[in-house]
Amino acid sequence: MYQILSVAVLVLSCLALGTLGEEVCGPLERIKVQHQWVSVYGADHDRLKVSTLVWKDFFEHHPEERARFERVNSDNIFSGDFRAHMVRVFAGFDLLIGVLNEEEIFKSAMIHYTKMHNDLGVTTEIIKEFGKSIARVLPEFMDGKPDITAWRPCFNLIAAGVSE
Ligand code: HEM
Repeated sequence: MYQILSVAVLVLSCLALGTLGEEVCGPLERIKVQHQWVSVYGADHDRLKVSTLVWKDFFEHHPEERARFERVNSDNIFSGDFRAHMVRVFAGFDLLIGVLNEEEIFKSAMIHYTKMHNDLGVTTEIIKEFGKSIARVLPEFMDGKPDITAWRPCFNLIAAGVSE
């Protein structure tokens, strides 16, 4: 009886604190994401292959989004223009992941990307969809299993954007 009461008190406390089952991108999650990202995008793998597979997956799931990238020749994701675009996007992503645990730098980089995407009419929802493509492709290149409970809240932080 005493044990049941203790568990009940613990569960109620967690609920009151709002921590039960809630995913956070805390210091530990940030380190996990950084570590796993390095195993995907570090020197050992073909960065172009990773990014091409992510964009291929994204356009397969959202064919209507191809038009948004007409300027960079999205009809042919193997073209020089689109490759350069992919390199820019993943360089940005790499930077954001790299500074996840440096609050001020992360914030100023995020303000820049958020403003740019807002001006282009890019919503949080569609960036989350892009995150799903990343999540489908990453395991193929990652050492070990992706820690989804760390990736999801940290990616959502990026997708949500930061305004000045
Ligand atoms: C976390 C994911 C993303 C990151 C880090 C990111 C970052 C970037 C970067 C660095 C550029 C290049 C800016 C420049 O030319 O200087 C860019 C361009 C752009 N991004 Fe994103 N992006 C992301 C996801 C998305 C998504 C999901 C969409 C919309 C579906 C999007 C729409 C665009 C558009 C339309 C451009 C301009 C393309 C052009 O040059 O014509 N981005 N993004």
